[in-house]
Amino acid sequence: MKSFTALDASLVLVLVAAGRSLAQSASSSTTTEPTATSTSATSTVSIPASCTAAVPASLQMTGFEWFNSTHNLDCSNPNYPAGSIVCWNTTTVCSPDDTTGCACTPYCYTGLAAPAYQPLGYGPPDTINITIDGETCYKQDPVGFRDYEIGEGHFDCGSAADQIGFYGDSNSDTGNIGTVYWNAIYSLGVGTCNGQVPRYEGSFPLDCTRDAGGNATCTAPVPITLPFVGWE
Ligand SMILES: *[C@@H]1O[C@H](CO)[C@@H](O)[C@H](O)[C@H]1NC(C)=O
Ligand SMILES: *[C@@H]1O[C@H](CO)[C@@H](O)[C@H](O)[C@H]1NC(C)=O
Ligand SMILES: *[C@@H]1O[C@H](CO)[C@@H](O)[C@H](O)[C@H]1NC(C)=O
Ligand SMILES: *[C@@H]1O[C@H](CO)[C@@H](O)[C@H](O)[C@H]1NC(C)=O
Repeated sequence: MKSFTALDASLVLVLVAAGRSLAQSASSSTTTEPTATSTSATSTVSIPASCTAAVPASLQMTGFEWFNSTHNLDCSNPNYPAGSIVCWNTTTVCSPDDTTGCACTPYCYTGLAAPAYQPLGYGPPDTINITIDGETCYKQDPVGFRDYEIGEGHFDCGSAADQIGFYGDSNSDTGNIGTVYWNAIYSLGVGTCNGQVPRYEGSFPLDCTRDAGGNATCTAPVPITLPFVGWE
């Protein structure tokens, strides 16, 4: 996990403030005022004039919700004894001696019904749900393939391509900062520029609350403007 120091956090806040005034001066063509945005410290790359029709200067993130479970099954860094077996059907975990309609498989096998990824004693999976430019990426961890720790960068959005990533920490009640990047590989309405895929990125405050089980649910003050920061 990428952790932010106090210095990082104040830098981000400066960038958020700078980004907001930039966005305000450039937002005459948009109807929704972004509540937060940031520019990257390295966003000195400009969009060539020949590409400005295909490559927008920014995209909007209009949905963000992250559920960070306290003790979900971890298939990427196994947190269970080798040889562990889970018995399940399409609706629930079964006891091993229940033979009617139940299957028993090793933990983390690929492509099983949801209950197979929450054996007895484990919490629900982590989930993340982000909408950018009208497209929603939903991922849960684990699902038994291409499992990534949510909050540590890249996660899959329907393919293995590096389309989206999220960095963030849900461990404090206040002061958490999230960062999302979006390589516009499959975005409708966003083109390439001389064969290069545009990249958008922004940081924003993460508002996290905890349920009785300690699981965190974090949201962002959407809409958030993600400025163009360069090429993938
Ligand atoms: C993801 O978010 C969208 C809107 O932001 C919502 O319609 C959808 O139900 C969410 N999906 C999940 C699985 O949370
Ligand atoms: C799944 O197993 C549970 C417990 O054994 C049982 O009550 C339920 O009817 C089963 N569901 C299906 C769809 O077979
Ligand atoms: C939070 O975690 C606890 C313990 O794992 C679990 O029992 C509870 O159902 C979780 N809450 C939600 C909303 O899933
Ligand atoms: C997710 O929650 C777990 C359990 O509370 C915590 O240990 C972990 O650091 C959190 N992950 C992130 C990326 O904040």
